[in-house]
Amino acid sequence: MTVGLKKQDKLIASGIVILDFGSQYTQLIARRLRELEVYAEILPYHAKLESILARKPAGIILSGGPDSVHRKGSPRPDERLFESGLPILGICYGMQLLVALHGGKVSPAQKREYGFAEVDVLEDSPLFAGLDRKLKVWMSHGDSAERLTNGFKIVAKTNTAPFAAISDEGKKWYGIQFHPEVVHTPQGARLLENFARKICGHTERWNMRSLLDRTIEDIKAQVGNGKVVCALSGGVDSSVAAALIHKAIGKNLFCIFVDTGLLRIGDREKAEKYLGGALGLNLKTADASKLFLSRLKGVKDPERKRKIIGKTFIEVFDKEAHKIKGVDFLAQGTLYPDVIESVSVHGPSVVIKSHHNVGGLPKKMKLKLVEPLRFLFKDEVRKLGREMGLPHDILGAHPFPGPGLAIRVLGAVEPRLLELLRKADLIMREELKSSGWYDKTWQAFAVILPTKSVGVMGDERTYDNTVCLRCVDSVDGMTADWSRLPHELLQKISSRIVSEVKGINRVAYDITSKPPATIEWE
Ligand code: XMP
Repeated sequence: MTVGLKKQDKLIASGIVILDFGSQYTQLIARRLRELEVYAEILPYHAKLESILARKPAGIILSGGPDSVHRKGSPRPDERLFESGLPILGICYGMQLLVALHGGKVSPAQKREYGFAEVDVLEDSPLFAGLDRKLKVWMSHGDSAERLTNGFKIVAKTNTAPFAAISDEGKKWYGIQFHPEVVHTPQGARLLENFARKICGHTERWNMRSLLDRTIEDIKAQVGNGKVVCALSGGVDSSVAAALIHKAIGKNLFCIFVDTGLLRIGDREKAEKYLGGALGLNLKTADASKLFLSRLKGVKDPERKRKIIGKTFIEVFDKEAHKIKGVDFLAQGTLYPDVIESVSVHGPSVVIKSHHNVGGLPKKMKLKLVEPLRFLFKDEVRKLGREMGLPHDILGAHPFPGPGLAIRVLGAVEPRLLELLRKADLIMREELKSSGWYDKTWQAFAVILPTKSVGVMGDERTYDNTVCLRCVDSVDGMTADWSRLPHELLQKISSRIVSEVKGINRVAYDITSKPPATIEWE
């Protein structure tokens, strides 16, 4: 299978192909290049040369990886790659491959070490053009090159690595022992730019404007006069996907917003106002709150709640979709990290997994998929949304889980607890927004505990529920730390909640990181 490229996918752009040897940084290489307006795609290391050439790449990057070239069976690329004439940049493991597969010697490491290092550039090389002669870099001391052969020469060294950078200018093969893609290598982006622009001669500019035009053309070509149905949640991905498809096919896109009764104050209105109203999407709201709440009645187990919600969602959506005559396509906001095939030899490079997408929709409905975001990272989706003029209220929204408030009312979901939680959650969001903290944090919400505690208000004793505030900093939701919100802000949120929400007499703040805790409480 041609990984990442489906039959209906047209080539988005030519650019750089990155072969993934399992480094945790592989996705970063692609992101850095795309920030430089160089289109980059990731393929597994074992991709066939035909599949690589189908992308019409200007050059190849061999990523790092946890393996050792000495181990029998360690990952190797299609050997014909080296006869393709394409420029190659090998990073760490990628560099060792260049050396070891071409007669050089790589010496095994006793143990792998990571850290800052200072690189001395010894020779003029297009890879280092315009960079300082002494560079701060993030080094990975694993195996290292020991002897070079053929046309390779040393271009840079460090105190501990005599072969920090090598090149064979004739073949346009380059190897570096450090990681240019991480922020700890401040001039790394320029090095990658040099590779793409100066060495590979790639001039095409990949930016949001050109991407937008091209994606719209692709959707038109795929869908033609067909009809597309889309489950719109009002979140970033489904909103941007729907806006794109709408631009391409207008009223032939049918969006369905399912009100599960587990939404926050303003969620439904926001979708109806911006997406149905301002953007003019063909939007139908299916109010199924009674159905969801009745099925959840008395259910305490978080996973059972999730299952019930997932199944009910599909049922409601399916029923609505069947009311539209002649639908052929289903729109999905699949993102690139879900498309990249993970290299699982010794630990996958792809850690982001979405247990979140509304699973099961496509299989059951036998529709063809339209996935306009399948080559984009999350930050690129936001940029594309901005390019289309979507409001910050949608693009800057924190992630909100599919099961909604059901997993934030701990234990059985009762309408009374949902009501209290909604009010507390709104106060928290209002205060975060007005203080500027909403945009500085990754996700913030409140959970309501099913137990009561004693309090005192005026002369009266109260016996009410507790909410706990959760606010975290994260990059991808896989790990997170609790946000250091100012005490004054926490105090304001707490006193507003207790005085404005009758039924809550205690507010706590969750100071656990992930791991060991998860972000959500259920
Ligand atoms: P956890 O709680 O696993 O959350 O640390 C990580 C991120 O995933 C979101 N999340 C979900 N999203 N359906 C979703 O659509 C779910 O069942 C679900 N569970 C967690 C969570 O909000 C956080 O952003």
